[in-house]
Amino acid sequence: MAIEKIAHIGVAVRDLEPQVHLYRDLLGLELINDEVVEDQKVRVVMFKIGESTIELLCPTSDDSPVARFLERSGEGIHHVAYEVHDLTAQLRRLDAQGVELIDKSPRKGAHGQHIAFVHPRATFGVLTELCESVL
Ligand code: CO
Repeated sequence: MAIEKIAHIGVAVRDLEPQVHLYRDLLGLELINDEVVEDQKVRVVMFKIGESTIELLCPTSDDSPVARFLERSGEGIHHVAYEVHDLTAQLRRLDAQGVELIDKSPRKGAHGQHIAFVHPRATFGVLTELCESVL
């Protein structure tokens, strides 16, 4: 499996404003993207950090998966995302090997990416996203 790099680390947040202040103003990271991903009912704010990004995820609705995560676990690290080539092929390969996937085919993520989640049961508790830049 050709994992290129850690694409981003996703952080679940209840309130964006104090966290944007932390990452942009105090830590000095560059804010590179701010958009709503309807598919996941989240507002996503991304900060560039070298070759990777930090992705803040704030639910836009109570039935967002991130809202359920916040209820269960509170604010904090939500997922790790690895960048791969040919996401569709990688998902097919993992599925064929019996790896439990949340998404068996890619869906649209933030910042022009195609993404899919592997079930945390298959990754020893670490929610893992695979993503492919399609810009
Ligand atoms: Co992500």
